[in-house]
Amino acid sequence: KKKAFIFDLDGVIVDTAKYHFLAWQKIAAQLGINFTHEHNEQLKGVSRIRSLDIILALGNVTITQQEKDNLLQQKNEDYLAYIQKMDESEILAGVLPALQYLKQNNQPIALGSASKNARPILEKVNLLDYFDAIVDGNDVTNAKPDPEVFVQAAKKLNMPTEGAIVFEDSVAGVQAANVAQMVSVGIGSKAVLHEAHYNFDDFKVINTTFLENLVNK
Ligand code: G6P
Ligand code: MG
Repeated sequence: KKKAFIFDLDGVIVDTAKYHFLAWQKIAAQLGINFTHEHNEQLKGVSRIRSLDIILALGNVTITQQEKDNLLQQKNEDYLAYIQKMDESEILAGVLPALQYLKQNNQPIALGSASKNARPILEKVNLLDYFDAIVDGNDVTNAKPDPEVFVQAAKKLNMPTEGAIVFEDSVAGVQAANVAQMVSVGIGSKAVLHEAHYNFDDFKVINTTFLENLVNK
């Protein structure tokens, strides 16, 4: 039996949320906006453009389109400088064994990320070869919680959308998976990701029996 296994990137495979945070915090500081870790939760799974709008709304700040474009460019340059230094050591614990298990059992694997930097990150941490399909921020027009990114991923794997399995650390991502009638596996706080069909604190606690059961379900 085969199931489409779709992984989110930031916060599921690698802990890049901390780099997004640092880059956004710098922007917020420039604008005189207080931006905390708690605020940052709202940006998870959210596109770059939408993230800036959320920060501006937090501070009740209005700027011109030109200023927005400049800040978006600055944010990405700062973020790229962080991910430039990434290597395999930044793969979150438990992810590699799960990918290896799925590969060994011939399960189709895809990436479903809102990030436009997904490919270079997978390259940096040397995981590109595990993925049969990649759908990222460059491919979709509708951001999570719209299911487009996951629907495209299942399609690229030549698998049905219904019953595909999605690993997500964001509320928007869990909602996107649920809308697509996929099986949502929340990675992170259960209090935050309570809409997910399954909840785990991290990949360390996901064992092969669980994965095997998902395949045979
Ligand atoms: C992921 C992250 C978000 C980020 C988005 C866009 O979904 O969780 O925090 O804003 O990707 O990333 P990008 O690399 O294109 O700016
Ligand atoms: Mg994420």
